[in-house]
Amino acid sequence: MAEQGGSIPRSFIETLLARADVVQVINQRVPLKKAGTSYKACCPFHDEKSPSFNVSPTKQFYHCFGCGASGDALKFLMEYDGLSFVEAVEALAAQYGMVVPREQRTPAQQKAQQIKQEKQRDLYDVMHLAAKFYRHQLRDHPQSQEAKTYLKERGLSADIAKEFVIGFAPPGWDSLVKGLSADKKLQQQLVEVGLLVEKEDGKQYDRFRHRIMFPIRDGRGRVIAFGGRVLGDEQPKYLNSPETPIFHKSYTLYGLFEMRQSRQKFDNILVVEGYMDVVALAQYGIRNAVATLGTATTIEHLDLLFRQVNEVVFCFDGDSAGLKAAWKALELALPMMEKERSVKFLFLPQGEDPDSMVRKDGMDGFKNRVAKSLSLSEFLMQGLQGRLSFPVNSIEGRQQFVSLAEPYVQSAHGLYQFLLAEGVANLVDLPTWRVEKQMNVKSGFAQFKKDGDRHGKGQSAQVVVSKVVTMPLKMVRLLLKRPQWSVVFAKEFIQDLVKSKQRDYVTLGGFIKTLQANDFNPQIATQVVLDAGYQAEMDLVMQSEIPDDEAFIQAEFDVCVIALATALDERNLGKSGWSADEMLKLQALVQSK
Ligand code: UTP
Ligand code: MN
Repeated sequence: MAEQGGSIPRSFIETLLARADVVQVINQRVPLKKAGTSYKACCPFHDEKSPSFNVSPTKQFYHCFGCGASGDALKFLMEYDGLSFVEAVEALAAQYGMVVPREQRTPAQQKAQQIKQEKQRDLYDVMHLAAKFYRHQLRDHPQSQEAKTYLKERGLSADIAKEFVIGFAPPGWDSLVKGLSADKKLQQQLVEVGLLVEKEDGKQYDRFRHRIMFPIRDGRGRVIAFGGRVLGDEQPKYLNSPETPIFHKSYTLYGLFEMRQSRQKFDNILVVEGYMDVVALAQYGIRNAVATLGTATTIEHLDLLFRQVNEVVFCFDGDSAGLKAAWKALELALPMMEKERSVKFLFLPQGEDPDSMVRKDGMDGFKNRVAKSLSLSEFLMQGLQGRLSFPVNSIEGRQQFVSLAEPYVQSAHGLYQFLLAEGVANLVDLPTWRVEKQMNVKSGFAQFKKDGDRHGKGQSAQVVVSKVVTMPLKMVRLLLKRPQWSVVFAKEFIQDLVKSKQRDYVTLGGFIKTLQANDFNPQIATQVVLDAGYQAEMDLVMQSEIPDDEAFIQAEFDVCVIALATALDERNLGKSGWSADEMLKLQALVQSK
């Protein structure tokens, strides 16, 4: 291609770079936001959610403070579009309407260039060379027809095979060394990247022979490993590169780079099991699928995924192995559920995988399945119910269910933990607080304390408090669930409360007052009361949860209102003298909510 025309004069490259605008070039591919004198974006070369990628119009340079990627417009084109230097120059020149001049190179110059390149060749280059070699073999090798037929029979289009750089490792033990005319140094590097296997006697042979080759690329598109599939039924069906200095299986997802190359914005990522699944889905227009590399999903995979999107959909076969893998993923994901994150599970019918499924269903059909996938909690509850030896509504079944659910609820955090506990409670028809007590989790409480901390104040010393929740504190607890209801309390009533000599009444009074003054925001009210030194009281309030059940809360509220008024009168705490009539009015008001 371009290189045949001779080398490009240095002066032209300088002129080109002076004319081109790095901001414009990058902005066409990665939308930039102005930030002061420079521009910002989330780095396209590594995974991040907050922007550390900077582009300077004055320096005509980009730099990522996260991953260190940096360079000029040409470097960006090479890295981002995966172009060679010459291709990048031509692309950039074309954009600015410039013609690339060529210098004639002497054979000696070419030779010198070659030596220099060989020296600089690092392991990534070696992998790149190998990928190119396998790709060429698929086109040109005398025995490649068999591979082409195989791919055709599996329904792969030429375009998609090209996009995923699918290649062919020819039969034979030394194709790679011969094909690359590898010198000693390159041979050693090929051993290092796992493409050559070195025997004890020092002899080397090709690891991948007579296989369809799937290059595995990192987030920046550099080939770091290969998966190779036999053309028939031989075993092992797939052979993967071993761990090398540039390849770490548990941190790598097949298809992630290709997904990003599609330049589409995705709400979720599908995690499938096989290379073929990723490629087939892509061919049918589903570009957001990635695969683990013959290993179970790891925490690192999940980390990587959640840095791209908030929703991960695991797509497994509907057989027992698929279910087992899904359950393992569920266990890993459970502690990671926070904020808007979610995990879903899609099970395909027996005997199907995403590859076969999308060929039957088409893109829309497959997307429909994804839309109907199970949420993590649904899968959890269903899975646990499947293990019961009694119906879930029998006494024994309820007991078993709570016991089975316990470790899962315990491994979740914060609100998600509470919601799971609540889900379990609903299923076995128990109040949530009873389930939480049984499991020894106090998620609502723990979460609240954490939220409180975030607002500034450190935690005060642990106070040992009695477990009895008094009536005014019960009211606080109800108001936490229904803060709006505090609207019914008249100013005089609140005055009576805060003037009380009993701390619990003061707590309630302060709580109601702050609620009313702050748009009924329970977080603010809680914080104000905590800051006023009523930590022990608030701890008591939050030591257990009440069911978020309308009838229950309504009934409790009514009882507490009456009891409160009576108490204030009896102890002569209040001056307002609430009559029974007024109390009834109050109640009517409450019920009309
Ligand atoms: P599958 O056997 O489900 O793969 O293995 P697949 O992609 O559906 O294969 P075919 O081509 O359609 O028959 C799923 C993944 O498990 C790993 C590979 O990463 C494969 O993509 N695997 C499988 C191995 O590493 N070795 C094996 O022998 C088989
Ligand atoms: Mn398959």
